Amino acid sequence: MTDRYAVVGNPVAHSKSPLIHAEFARQTGQDLSYTALLAPLDGFARTVQEFRQAGGKGLNVTVPFKQEAWRLATRLTERAQLAQAVNTLKFEDGGILGDNTDGAGLVRDITSNLGFAIRGKKILLMGAGGAARGVILPLLKQYPALFAIANRTPDKAHELAQLFLPHGDISSGEYGSLAGCHFDLVINATSSSLSGELPPLPGGVFSPGSLAYDMMYGKGLTPFLQFAQTHGAAQLADGLGMLVEQAAESFFLWRGVRPDTAPVREMLKTL
Ligand code: ATR
Repeated sequence: MTDRYAVVGNPVAHSKSPLIHAEFARQTGQDLSYTALLAPLDGFARTVQEFRQAGGKGLNVTVPFKQEAWRLATRLTERAQLAQAVNTLKFEDGGILGDNTDGAGLVRDITSNLGFAIRGKKILLMGAGGAARGVILPLLKQYPALFAIANRTPDKAHELAQLFLPHGDISSGEYGSLAGCHFDLVINATSSSLSGELPPLPGGVFSPGSLAYDMMYGKGLTPFLQFAQTHGAAQLADGLGMLVEQAAESFFLWRGVRPDTAPVREMLKTL
């Protein structure tokens, strides 16, 4: 029987995950189906249980249910535990495993696809919401020389720095405190692009040879990538590669097979 998977969210119709996983399944010869599942805002747990009872094997979880999925899981990976957010559920005998593959997807896109080694580099992470929190542990595990978090509301950045202290030293503050600082990798994990805005980042933060990475993606350059281009970043990347890599990590967790992401990235660029 064909194994069933889906992405659950609200809204979810725009999700590229069904397309990505269909391509992974075709490429690796795995017998599975992958659909988009709309859950009512007050009915996430019920939707998950119904899908599981109908024979579902696993789910990807997207906005706004990642924290609820974290609470629903009966077993968590370390990275999901610290992220306090789950984007991948795997149904197991007697329980539900919750994982968060976002950070691993980001790291793989940066290191493997873009060829940028994080070890020994100075990193600035912009934002201290759910998206930022989800990528901190995998980034720290690459042993950067310095890790800074900047946020409009500095207290949220300080809280994250405290929380991840056992895993590495993080400096935290507001954007103004970055004046005179330089970074090799600047990652935008804020939701500011959604409103066409840009955090008040000092222009001089980009070191020669630096990579500017926006976890958002869309047609053309995001406001952050336009800013980075005019302020000396050497390399620009949006979050399309991360999207495909986090999907590949989920696929690997479920199926034990790692798909080739390059043709899928190319396919998405043409859409
Ligand atoms: P997500 O799950 O996408 O991370 P979130 O948890 O609501 O969403 O967090 C949004 C992040 O984007 C926060 O870090 C927020 O900054 P504040 O904590 O100060 O609110 C940041 N953000 C959103 N719009 C922004 C803007 N226009 N300028 C700077 N930061 C912005």
